[in-house]
Amino acid sequence: MTSYSDIIKKHQERLAKFSTNAHRDMRVLLGHLTEKTPEFYFMHPDTVISKDVESQLEKCIDRLCQNEPLSKIMGKREFYGRIFTVTKDTLDPRQDTETLIDAALKYKKTLPKPLSILDLGTGTGCMVLTLLAEISLATGMGVDISKKALDVAYNNAKALHLEDRVTFKHSNWFETIMDDEMFALIVSNPPYIANHEILDPNVYNFDPHSALFAGSEGLDAYEVIAKDIKKHLLPQGKLLIEFGHGQEKAVIHIFESSGLKHIESFHDLSGIIRCAIFA
Ligand SMILES: C[S@@+](CC[C@H](N)C(=O)[O-])C[C@H]1O[C@@H](n2cnc3c(N)ncnc32)[C@H](O)[C@@H]1O
Repeated sequence: MTSYSDIIKKHQERLAKFSTNAHRDMRVLLGHLTEKTPEFYFMHPDTVISKDVESQLEKCIDRLCQNEPLSKIMGKREFYGRIFTVTKDTLDPRQDTETLIDAALKYKKTLPKPLSILDLGTGTGCMVLTLLAEISLATGMGVDISKKALDVAYNNAKALHLEDRVTFKHSNWFETIMDDEMFALIVSNPPYIANHEILDPNVYNFDPHSALFAGSEGLDAYEVIAKDIKKHLLPQGKLLIEFGHGQEKAVIHIFESSGLKHIESFHDLSGIIRCAIFA
């Protein structure tokens, strides 16, 4: 009979090369496979593991040793306290993006009502769905160039019981949005990595490149979004947009050139200026 502590002993050396916290990762994976909390195995290291679970765990460990993120292996990731399904077709929601949610909630009283939200490049739907869950009377639309990501977003909406308040649309930014469709709040976390940037293998090999890269300086998506932004913002409406380290000035310049006014920028938990709001 194999216990959790036997499994740890068997795999920890191999796993330690790929994970800064091999024990924790094993507990998370085992908890995921057995529908128990990771803490359970911390408290009960002698728990006997069935052959079937052991073989599933070994497959997961193999994937972890190929640099695959835990979230992609488990097919889910937490964002702003809620669980979102993730797949190879969606960017894993990042903690940095929670900064944008806090910023939106700070400004929600200033937004035109009824509060309609457009999420450009919705991915898993994590931004629009979180905002709808946090703001009970709001409605939303999420658009993405990836049809497969839109399927994931719709399933996340159903899992959160938000499908009646959101629509998802296949679109190249504003392309399929009607000229007269206007929103109180437009949010976006577009791709913003410069094409030449070298990324960690756990990002480069497992997040979709269409969600990451945006031209020689990582600014291409902002340029396209800026062209039509004014047309789709209601009077008093606001744009909240995420960007990468060091891109604040360029992004402010792009949107101020399109006629918006920068109001405030926001730092993420690492102290990096991560997003800005415009009116
Ligand atoms: C950085 S990811 C953000 C995903 C999600 N909003 C989040 O914050 O986790 C960028 C998203 O933009 C989408 N995207 C890329 N190019 C696009 C385009 N031309 N039109 C619409 N969406 C696009 C990608 O498919 C991806 O889902």
